[in-house]
Amino acid sequence: MTYQITLLPGDGIGPEVVAEAVRVLDFIASKYNHTFEYKERLMGGCSIDAYGSSLTEETLADCKSSDAVLLGAVGGPKWDDPAAKDRPERGLLALRKGLGVFANLRPVKVHPALMEWSPLKPEKLQGVDILVVRELTGGLYFGWPKGRDVKDGRERAVDTLEYYDYEVKRVMELAFNLARGRKKKVTSVDKANVLESSRLWRQIATRIGKENPDIELEHTLVDTASMKLITGPAWMDVVVTENMFGDILTDEASVLAGSMGMLPSASLGRIDDASTVGLYEPIHGSAPDIAGRGIANPIGTILSSAMLLRHSLKLEVEASAIEKAVEQTITDGARTADIGGKLTTRQMAEEIIQRL
Ligand code: IPM
Ligand code: MG
Repeated sequence: MTYQITLLPGDGIGPEVVAEAVRVLDFIASKYNHTFEYKERLMGGCSIDAYGSSLTEETLADCKSSDAVLLGAVGGPKWDDPAAKDRPERGLLALRKGLGVFANLRPVKVHPALMEWSPLKPEKLQGVDILVVRELTGGLYFGWPKGRDVKDGRERAVDTLEYYDYEVKRVMELAFNLARGRKKKVTSVDKANVLESSRLWRQIATRIGKENPDIELEHTLVDTASMKLITGPAWMDVVVTENMFGDILTDEASVLAGSMGMLPSASLGRIDDASTVGLYEPIHGSAPDIAGRGIANPIGTILSSAMLLRHSLKLEVEASAIEKAVEQTITDGARTADIGGKLTTRQMAEEIIQRL
């Protein structure tokens, strides 16, 4: 079969890690007899430089017409001016919204060989296998009104945490479906003791919990959840939460794995609907401090390409082959700088390809 994949390498280390994920994909293509056709486009800071816009209409259209999108990272000090009209991050948010990818899956697993790189004691990391489902196209990131003005002679800034029932329902149902294939437990994270939007969130979670009696549902306040992620992460399975809460909690959860460079993500519209395009990206940023040196860890992006094969192209065998090869590579001691080694980005990808 032939599949169309749009590549958005982006800024900083993005192009370096995407290039290695593509080498892994090409190896998969030849081994399993598929054809992957790539369209490479600019998005983020590089797109501002080239076109004056972080995401052009044409690039969004190209993404929409492909089977899946693989993204590196966006942003960097060059585009950090708070007064700037456009920012690399705006392109990313417009892309997520434009593709309608309302659920961001961020799995956090701890490889036993990397436990020493985690700030937690090894006994706390035993059995950690969390899937955070972050709502991605609503909440505080997109709510209206939003902006700056002057009110009563004072400068004011407003962001709005807004949710419609259908937005909560669809991400909640997806979380329950994913939990069914795992440990059958959903932790819904909110701030229902303070926020109206969280009370709606909790009400809908409770209703969907009743419709899915085989899944255990628990509600946790976001402050408690952030504490429990550190004191007892093994107790969590699927965690579903609001956009901004999920942004914060997933950075926190990522350090459990020893390095942010290890972790992939998938942003999906609907899990069983091939007509929606999935967006796949490592959870790390553009890491301007190491950009251009060829030393970034490509594993987060390579594992994102495995999620792309699984969720968008329905190539489960190929997806798990990549995941197994990565696991074996780490078991065998291959390490980039972020996890205490000396391998380059390219060499790490080579090690993985060898084990495919
Ligand atoms: C993430 C990032 C983005 C977000 C930024 C770059 C806009 O932090 O993917 O977690 O906040 O969603
Ligand atoms: Mg983030």
